Amino acid sequence: MTSIKETVDFINLKTNNFKPEVGIILGSGLGCFCDNLSGITIKYCEIPGFGESNVEGHKGELLFCEIAGKKTVIMQGRFHYYEGNSLQTSTFPIKVFKKLGVETLFITNAAGSTKKDLAPGEIMLIADHINFMGSNPLIGKNDESLGERFPDMSDCYNIELQKLAHNCASELNIPLKEGVYLATTGPSYETAAEVRAYRCLGADVIGMSSVPEAIVANYLKMNIIGFSLITNFATGVSNKKPAHSEVLEVGKTAGNNLCRLIKKIIEKI
Ligand code: HPA
Repeated sequence: MTSIKETVDFINLKTNNFKPEVGIILGSGLGCFCDNLSGITIKYCEIPGFGESNVEGHKGELLFCEIAGKKTVIMQGRFHYYEGNSLQTSTFPIKVFKKLGVETLFITNAAGSTKKDLAPGEIMLIADHINFMGSNPLIGKNDESLGERFPDMSDCYNIELQKLAHNCASELNIPLKEGVYLATTGPSYETAAEVRAYRCLGADVIGMSSVPEAIVANYLKMNIIGFSLITNFATGVSNKKPAHSEVLEVGKTAGNNLCRLIKKIIEKI
């Protein structure tokens, strides 16, 4: 298994010791975030220890750049569990980010809404999550130098960053909802009965990522902020069936507001 140090050394060599303080994970359809950014890119397939990422709508590379004068590293595409990556491999980049110097992590995703008043095209700030993946990325021997065995999850999503997000959204006139994200393994979408059950459990949106990353980033004591871009109503909430093409299409159009919002927050951190 590749060590974190090995990967960090490889990246430092490629980037001439660029030390990012902000990390961003871009979800499906949010690739437009990088349109006007330039910097050093490294393809995942070149990076030791990085997994497989082949989902349509994900570029599969890291971009090291500056946003509002802040050194930032952007993951253009992530390593999903449903692609056959272990949760440890899926979250390996978060550990690498931490060692590179990242203190604040933006996690974004595309998600299906479980309720009528949270519609496709809207943005939801993740206030909390439900891990419904049936596993946890911290399972296994604990490396005490990284974090504690039983990490507290009560402040997983940083409250100050949440306040800042609401202020920035008001300033930009971007409507921002807030709610709970529930992660399933995927890759199949939910049945209507599952969506009703998840709604009863407290899920506002459902997705297939982000929670393992948030668990590991919280364990590493990073400041986390998460956003879901609502790309569809989950099964049974409307008559339309969820489809990945729709997820990408809504991501492209509505993603623009989320991109603007994240840039504004980085400016104010
Ligand atoms: N369910 C699960 N994951 C998703 C959905 C959904 O409806 N939309 C986008 N990602």
